[in-house]
Amino acid sequence: MALTKKGQKVIINRNCHRSALTGLMISGADPIWVCPSRIDDWSIWGNIEPEKIEKALKENPDAGLVWITNPTYEGVVSDIKSISAICKKYNVPLVVDEAHGCLWNFSSHLPQSALKLGADVVVHSLHKTGGSMSQSSMLHVSKNSMINPDTVEKALKLLHTTSPSLMLLGSLDASRAVLQSKSGQTMLERTIKNAKYLRKRLDNIPNLQQLKNDFGYSTDVTKVFIKIDGLSGKRLESILEIDFGIEVESASDIGVLILCNLGNKRSDFAYLADALEKIAQGNHKDIYYLENRKHMPMLEPQIVMSLRDAYYAEKEIIKKEDAIGRISAEVIAECPPGISILLPGELITEEHLPYLNDYETLEVVKK
Ligand SMILES: Cc1ncc(COP(=O)(O)O)c(C=O)c1O
Repeated sequence: MALTKKGQKVIINRNCHRSALTGLMISGADPIWVCPSRIDDWSIWGNIEPEKIEKALKENPDAGLVWITNPTYEGVVSDIKSISAICKKYNVPLVVDEAHGCLWNFSSHLPQSALKLGADVVVHSLHKTGGSMSQSSMLHVSKNSMINPDTVEKALKLLHTTSPSLMLLGSLDASRAVLQSKSGQTMLERTIKNAKYLRKRLDNIPNLQQLKNDFGYSTDVTKVFIKIDGLSGKRLESILEIDFGIEVESASDIGVLILCNLGNKRSDFAYLADALEKIAQGNHKDIYYLENRKHMPMLEPQIVMSLRDAYYAEKEIIKKEDAIGRISAEVIAECPPGISILLPGELITEEHLPYLNDYETLEVVKK
């Protein structure tokens, strides 16, 4: 809201969180989608190639903002330094949604924060992995930002309560103080060591793969995305929970995401690795599940009406099967990871159906 206005183009990654879409709906800005690379073996979005941002800026000289989500939920890290240099060349501000990288500023063993790489505004969801209370997060405006902090403040006032929660603000400052303190730093170092330990153990388990740094992208060591041959992620999640009492961060059709958190002990990871060793020994054939249901939205939205206009249009609720060819009037995005399956103004196609198994009806723009 602070950074765009009605009709302004925003170059934005396809796998942005639904909250970014809300911003577009409120401001009336128009998205220009940039699809990151696809990591097909894992059915997830990968890094955002800087060349794609440059191409989008060249093709849209009137774009007013570039929005990048980094890292992805699964920990894939894009080259923000290059993207930031490109944005500066075209004189367009860069916002980085670093919600899942909120620990990066506190350790030199984690990827560098976009704040140090030239981004103008950076989002940090400290409540995710930094220890602050739910609903609290930080929005950083960098020192040499092209964005005026007063404009951000004014927009915040439009959305925020006039009675802010001092408890939430206090919890943000407390978790920042802890993370910067000696004991916090020790905790963070221990977490990174534990993550490396887990990754090493997983390397030795046959039939199990973990997502690692690859050509074009690096990964955050604390986010461990794994898969086991023949098992869907959802089934692996259930086995871990029911047979071993282990709750993972999330599961997709392909794998499960394990977060190495500040509060975890080495013994937690030893127990998890032992459990995965046992599970991976089974001869799994969980193919049926994979064919019928998809979790990570991997489609490029075909926007046929502005997000804002579709959201405010007259609507009707119809059966999912009758919705093909109609225009969505709602955001459908399962959390996590909060990436949209459908958004207002998007043409509904048959390709959406495998992602919508849990929906019988959809809200569409009235004809
Ligand atoms: C990439 C990303 N950005 C923003 C958010 C929104 O954060 P919050 O839940 O604090 O509103 C999320 C939440 O999951 C997210 O994954």
